[in-house]
Amino acid sequence: MNFNIAVIPGDGIGPEVIMETIQVLEKVGKIFNHKFAFTEVLAGGCAIDAQGEILPEETLDVCKESDAVLLGALGGPKWDNLPGEKRPEKALLTLRKALGLYANIRPAIMYNELKDACPLKPEIIGDGIDICVVRELTGGIYFGEKGRKNGKMGEEAYDVKQYSEVEVERIAKTAFEIARKRNSRVTSVDKANVLESSRLWRSVVEKVAKDYPDVYLNHMYVDNAAMQLVRDPGQFDVILTTNMFGDILSDEASMITGSIGMLPSASLGEDNKGMYEPIHGSAPDIAGQDKANPIATILSAAMMLRYSFDLEEEAAAIEKAISEVLKNNYRTGDIMSKDMKLVGTKEMGKLILEQIGG
Ligand code: IPM
Ligand code: MG
Repeated sequence: MNFNIAVIPGDGIGPEVIMETIQVLEKVGKIFNHKFAFTEVLAGGCAIDAQGEILPEETLDVCKESDAVLLGALGGPKWDNLPGEKRPEKALLTLRKALGLYANIRPAIMYNELKDACPLKPEIIGDGIDICVVRELTGGIYFGEKGRKNGKMGEEAYDVKQYSEVEVERIAKTAFEIARKRNSRVTSVDKANVLESSRLWRSVVEKVAKDYPDVYLNHMYVDNAAMQLVRDPGQFDVILTTNMFGDILSDEASMITGSIGMLPSASLGEDNKGMYEPIHGSAPDIAGQDKANPIATILSAAMMLRYSFDLEEEAAAIEKAISEVLKNNYRTGDIMSKDMKLVGTKEMGKLILEQIGG
């Protein structure tokens, strides 16, 4: 089959991890007889430098016309002092919104081989960690009204956190559907003891839950959830939460699995089109040094094959290849531990390539 993929390498380590990922996809295409056509486009800091804007129209057009979008990372210190609307991160938010990608799926799985990289004690890890964070992605405080004004005590700034029933309902459905394919447990995370938007969230989630009597639902306040994640991560299956809480908790979930360099994500809307990106950022401190871990991006490509293209076998082949490379004791710096073999970005990509179909 033929698939058109828009590729946004972006800033920092983005281009390095994307390069390895494209090679992996090309190999998968060869072995399984698919044609992946890649169209590279600019967004973020590099787009500011080249064209003076964070998200050129052409980029948005190409993304809209493609079957899926693969993204590296956006942002960096060079552009940190720009006003909010002109920051590279804003390009990401605009893309998510413009493509209608309201459901962000972030699986946090601990590979057995990476147990040593996990900062938690073995008795806390137990049988391992396998959590799926389902984060609402196009609403909440990220997209509410924001601004500045002169108040009684001087300058004030505000970001409104707002949710509509429809927005909560559709993301809740996504979470319950995913839970059904896993261990049938949803923990909805909110701050209903304080926030009105959380009280609406909770009541809508409860309504949706009625259609999923086979899925166990519990609610948790976000402060407690942050604590429970390090106290007893095994209690979680699917975590359903808002845009900002999901941003924070998914970073935490990634770290307890060993490294933020391992976690992929899929952003989905009503149809099969999705955007796939690692959950880590552009890591400017190690950019261009062949140190970045490409696994999160390669795993994101696997998610793309599974969710947007319905290519389960191909996705599994990539995941298996990664497991094999880890089993063979190869590690990038972020997941390095005693007696392992340290490799760079390119070498890690090459090792994964060699395992695919082999
Ligand atoms: C993420 C990132 C983004 C977010 C930033 C870069 C805008 O942290 O995808 O988790 O907050 O959503
Ligand atoms: Mg984040």
